[in-house]
This record gives sequence, structure tokens and C-alpha cells, in this order.
Amino acid sequence: MTMLQPTVEIKPLTPEVVKDNIDALIEMSTQLKGDYWTLEHYLSDMNRKWELSWAVYTNGRLCGFIINSEKPESLHVHRIVIAKEMHGKGIGKLLISKAIEDAKRLGKDAVTLKAEADNPQSLGFYKGLNFEITGEQGDLVLMTLKIAP
Ligand SMILES: CC(C)(COP(=O)(O)OP(=O)(O)OC[C@H]1O[C@@H](n2cnc3c(N)ncnc32)[C@H](O)[C@@H]1OP(=O)(O)O)[C@@H](O)C(=O)NCCC(=O)NCCS
Repeated sequence: MTMLQPTVEIKPLTPEVVKDNIDALIEMSTQLKGDYWTLEHYLSDMNRKWELSWAVYTNGRLCGFIINSEKPESLHVHRIVIAKEMHGKGIGKLLISKAIEDAKRLGKDAVTLKAEADNPQSLGFYKGLNFEITGEQGDLVLMTLKIAP
């Protein structure tokens, strides 16, 4: 029997997509320890946020998202979450690739993010993608991926 590959699509994460899917975004984010983001946080404006943030769908169903903005020296990832049942299928890596592509387009030479210092799952994911720890801020570590221009 032939197994059908799921169709994976990346689309802009717009304020409309946020509003229409807020329950799913909040549900997916329960994976993040101490999450506090409400609809207002998801809708808050940041530099170029609506041009740099993406939603990912498998077979038409929202299964993850990445929220990014432009910082003076980098493209900054504020949040990346993949639905639990879709972990380990390369979707997180795909969204980070998209962020790298956007960073290059903006002429940045780095992608940055803050990760929970005691979350081995996300640290392992980022280290596997060549991010390095470049600072500490309380319970968080600053991670940087240098990219070729
Ligand atoms: C962390 C997260 C975004 C990773 O997304 P994902 O789609 O499951 O990851 P991928 O399948 O794209 O994995 C990409 C690579 O990272 C590796 N990887 C994934 N999780 C890993 C882990 N815990 N430790 C080490 N490597 C890991 C994979 O093996 C893969 O490597 P490969 O390319 O050599 O095969 C996802 O698990 C998630 O949403 N977790 C909960 C929310 C969270 O912690 N977000 C990050 C903080 S905001």
C-alpha cells in the first residue's frame, strides 16, 4: 500500500490567522513551561513582525508557528511551537530555515532567541541547528546562529 506524504504548507501568520486560531495557539503553547501569552501578546506589534512570522499547516491543519521580529543586529525568534503530535518530523527545522532565509533577505548576519536554560528539549533542538549560547539572563540563555550573508 502506498503511504501518502502529508502536505506541508507555510503561510504568513497574520493578525487574522492569530484571531481565528487563538485557542489552538494557546493549546500548543501549553508545552512551554510558565507560558503567559494571551491574545493580546500574540497580537502585539513588533518590528516587521507580520512580515517575519509564519504558520505551518499539515494537510490543511495548523500544526505550528514561529513569531519573529527584526532587531538592530539580528532576526529574533520570540516563539516557535510545533503541535506535540507533529514533533520530530522536520517542521521546526523548516520554520528555522524560513527565519534564516528572512534574516538573509534583511541583510542580517544572525538569528537570535532566548531559551529556557533548563529546557533540554529546546536547547538540544537549537544546538543541533548550530545555535550557540552567547549570553545568560536569569533563567534564560541567549542563543545565536551566525549566518553567512
Ligand atoms: C523544539 C521544537 C520546536 C522542535 O520542533 P520539531 O519539529 O519537533 O523538530 P524537528 O523535527 O524539525 O527537528 C530538527 C532537528 O532537531 C533535532 N531535535 C529535535 N528535538 C531535539 C532534542 N530535544 N534534542 C536534540 N535534537 C533535537 C532533530 O533530531 C532534528 O535533527 P536532524 O535534522 O539531524 O534530523 C518542538 O519540539 C516544540 O514545539 N517543542 C515545544 C515548544 C518549545 O520548546 N519551543 C521552543 C522554545 S520557544
